[in-house]
Amino acid sequence: MLTINKQKCTQCKQCESLCPTLSIDVQKNRILENCINCFHCISICKEQAIEPNELILGKQASSVISPKEYKTLLLNRRTHRNFSDKALSQEQITAFITDLRHSPTASNSRSLEFTVITNKEVIQHINNLSINTIKKAFKSINGISTPVLQLLIGKKAMHALPNSKRNFLNKAEKKQQMITYNAPAIIIVHAPKVKTGMPIHDASIWTGMACLYAETLSYATCINGYLVNAAQRNKELKQMMKIPVNNEVLSALLIGYSNTNFIHNVNRSIPNISYINN
Ligand SMILES: Cc1cc2nc3c(=O)[nH]c(=O)nc-3n(C[C@H](O)[C@H](O)[C@H](O)COP(=O)(O)O)c2cc1C
Repeated sequence: MLTINKQKCTQCKQCESLCPTLSIDVQKNRILENCINCFHCISICKEQAIEPNELILGKQASSVISPKEYKTLLLNRRTHRNFSDKALSQEQITAFITDLRHSPTASNSRSLEFTVITNKEVIQHINNLSINTIKKAFKSINGISTPVLQLLIGKKAMHALPNSKRNFLNKAEKKQQMITYNAPAIIIVHAPKVKTGMPIHDASIWTGMACLYAETLSYATCINGYLVNAAQRNKELKQMMKIPVNNEVLSALLIGYSNTNFIHNVNRSIPNISYINN
């Protein structure tokens, strides 16, 4: 619990005006319990009057990455599906996940948990079981009548379904490692199931940030939607990955070094952008 050191506080009230949950009353020297520990108050206080001030990591540096460099990072980041045998060490992966703890979460909930799988046999099982699970899911759709299916997944997805199924089955036949691509490590992002909160968004944001951070470290990544989809359908897969029963798998990231050297940056379609100005 944070407190305001009366001796140090100059009553400038910057902390009070910055607090997202309106938890601070400087005059009454009070921080309410609905504080979400975002520590904006600590970040802004010149006098270091918000305690414990051991939470301060140092002075904020002026941005070290230029917009041009960031754009290069965005352009260079690619999905890798051709991993080299060389693996990241446990220390490297731990440091990577630990550094990414600064990724934002809704209401600063910090509920994400991480399971790292490096055991080759387990990864192989995950690959095979994911393929079988998704195959079964496609099969089970066969038994659903067209109007019900349309109601369940919408017209557009329903029309795309035969193609997705054909592509999946075709790839599964030609490429046995189509889920895990022989990656030396998988980071599974999971969190306790909740009825409120936004852990799925927390995990997506974490994953996006992780891909960019990985790029700066010359690590190769592949976000893995198939694995998440399969884990959400199959308890056995969740057990294999030792995910706690009450947790939900939210994201999966294959990580290692790449055997692919992309040479060209490619263009992407410009998204629709609307403005409401007046
Ligand atoms: C939510 C999400 C799920 C994805 N799932 C998979 C997947 O299961 N397998 C895979 O090979 N790539 C997967 N990808 C990677 C996309 O196919 C890839 O981002 C896209 O084709 C664009 O290529 P790029 O990332 O190299 O720019 C996923 C990406 C996202 C954002």
